[in-house]
Amino acid sequence: MNRKAIILAAGQGKRMKSQHSKVMQTILNEPMLEHVIRECEKVNTSMIEVIVGHQKEEIIDYFKDRIHTAVQEPQLGTGHALMCSNQLKDEEGLVLITYGDVPCVRSETFERVFTLAESVDALIVSAKLDDAGSYGRIVRNDHNHVIGIVEAKDASESQRLIQEINTGIICFNQKKLFKHLKELQNNNAQKEYYLTDMIEIFVSHGYRVDALIIEDMNEVMGVNDRVQLAQATKVIQKRINEHWMNEGVTLIDPENTWIDAKSKLASDCVIEPSVTLINATLHDHVKVLGNAFIKNSTIHAHVVIDRSHVIDSTVGAHTQVGPHAHLRNHCEIGEHCRIGNYVEMKNTRFGDHSKSAHLTYLGDAVVGKHVNIGCGVVTVNYDGKHKHITTIKDGAFIGSNANLVAPITIGENALVAAGSTLTKDVEDQAMGIARAHQVNKPDKGQSYKNK
Ligand code: UD1
Ligand code: CA
Repeated sequence: MNRKAIILAAGQGKRMKSQHSKVMQTILNEPMLEHVIRECEKVNTSMIEVIVGHQKEEIIDYFKDRIHTAVQEPQLGTGHALMCSNQLKDEEGLVLITYGDVPCVRSETFERVFTLAESVDALIVSAKLDDAGSYGRIVRNDHNHVIGIVEAKDASESQRLIQEINTGIICFNQKKLFKHLKELQNNNAQKEYYLTDMIEIFVSHGYRVDALIIEDMNEVMGVNDRVQLAQATKVIQKRINEHWMNEGVTLIDPENTWIDAKSKLASDCVIEPSVTLINATLHDHVKVLGNAFIKNSTIHAHVVIDRSHVIDSTVGAHTQVGPHAHLRNHCEIGEHCRIGNYVEMKNTRFGDHSKSAHLTYLGDAVVGKHVNIGCGVVTVNYDGKHKHITTIKDGAFIGSNANLVAPITIGENALVAAGSTLTKDVEDQAMGIARAHQVNKPDKGQSYKNK
């Protein structure tokens, strides 16, 4: 049977108290809506359409051509949102409706819903809760058949006690939905056209309606405020972390490890508490120690990243980074390197077996192999208007507290004397020294102290 999915994402989400659209609130660095779309994309459908309205530019700008959209303006309820769909024509097949603020649903569940919906006219995904809160309630008759959904705000006292709730996921026979959608009315507490009223309409026409009761409420929770956003984040965090543990990664404290959906970790990686990985690729035997933050980067095998930030960069095998180093803006670090504490590198290539152990800034630098950078070395790469390149060739030794004013080249096996501020190139094998001569004045120290 032909399958389509429609994701409702036009609402404002007042309870978030945000300038952004609710569905753009992030869970592990990606908008909630991204999680919904990703899972929908895993299922075989002919079309996924997102209904946008409030802050639609933000959504369209983020997803660009990846999604088909229809605009709902103004937003008069979830049923009205559906009326705005471009896809809802008089066609055969199934149409699955889901909400952009129900972010934890897995593709397996969508798949299951499509399959079960083939034998009915509408299949609701429901769940049982001790306290149904603000969810819509599933109303059943004496024969336990579903006869409608009543919104919390419209529910009578006895209906409010119903524990079976509407998760928002409903799969309809498309032809029948299209035929009867115009029967929706807005004579309710919120003066909205409720999608959920379609159930009563279907029942009134004698159509078959059923509900699939989902066991795991975590999967189908709605996210209307920031408390629920944090709860949904925990659900997705747990799912991702358990996946990687099952793939052979050690997470010392999974509750406090944040790995986004795009990251990839090879086996025998060890991740300490409070680590964040965003679109990071870790090859095998990588160790990431407490508080590290790695984003858009590839870390090769046997590397240790200790309490450091690595952003938009690559680190070669067997290299050690940190504690408290900062690599950013397209650094390419070689193999067997040592990058120690308080070293910042920006847009720098750092050759195999090179070392920079303490308190250094290398910006726009090209550093060869077996180079030793002393403590407190600074590439002076910016003249206030332009950035310039520092080239340090293989085997060079840069003494502590040297300033290399770029553009500058330090030759192969050259030496830069400690404390020098160099503005001119140093040839291969040569030594560059640029500092004032020292004068020692006898007894001057003592007399100063006695003053
Ligand atoms: C909705 C359901 C409720 C269900 C709950 C599950 C209705 C009437 N109620 O309530 O039965 O238990 O979800 O989480 O459907 N939206 C639009 N256009 C609109 C209004 C909303 O696109 O005019 C979108 C929102 O962006 C959101 C989704 O629809 O993604 C749900 O809207 P929301 O206002 O959060 O509905 P709930 O009150 O949570
Ligand atoms: Ca909601």
